[in-house]
Amino acid sequence: EWSDSERNTIASVWGKINVGEIGPQALARVLIVYPWTQRYFGSFGNLSSAAAILGNPKVSNHGKTVLNALEKAVKNLDGIKGTYSELSQLHCDKLNVDPDNFRLLADCLTIVVATAFGSAFSPAVQATWQKFLSVVVSALSSRYF
Ligand code: HEM
Repeated sequence: EWSDSERNTIASVWGKINVGEIGPQALARVLIVYPWTQRYFGSFGNLSSAAAILGNPKVSNHGKTVLNALEKAVKNLDGIKGTYSELSQLHCDKLNVDPDNFRLLADCLTIVVATAFGSAFSPAVQATWQKFLSVVVSALSSRYF
C-alpha cells in the first residue's frame, strides 16, 4: 500500500527530524494548545503555563520517547499495526488515554515539522507525511475496539 515515492518521502522526512528538538516541541504544543491533555501527565510537575511546559524536562524526555516510538513505524512501514499493538493496549487499558488525542498529537507534530523544515515541507511531502501519521494513529487506536 506504500509506493516507492511515499517510502522515500517518509524516510527522507524522518532523516531530517531532530528527535531531541521536534519531540519535545510537539508534545509541549499538544499540552499548550489542548490543555485537557495535561490531565494524563499529573506526575510531570509544573504545567501551569506555556513557558513552564516548554521548560519542563519531563515533557522534553517524554517527547523524545514518543518520537523514538515513531521511528519503529518509519522503519517498518508494512507492519505498523503490529508494531503498536502493545502500545495501543497500554494507552487504552492502563493510561486510559482518549484515542482522539492521538490525532491532536499527530497534527501538532506536523505543525512543528513544517515550522522546522520551511519550504522543504511541500504540500506533496505534507500529504504523504500525514498519510503516514494517520496509519500510526489508527494503529494506536486499534486495541480500543
Ligand atoms: C507513555 C508513545 C500519544 C499519554 C508512552 C510511551 C510511549 C508512548 C512509547 C512509554 C510507554 C512505556 O513506558 O512502556 C506514544 C505515541 C503516541 C502517543 C507514539 C502518538 C503518536 C499519546 C497521547 C497521550 C499520551 C496523545 C495523551 C494525551 C501517555 C502517558 C504515558 C505515555 C500519560 C505515560 C507517561 C509516564 O508516566 O511516563 N506513550 N504516545 N500518549 N503516553 Fe503516549
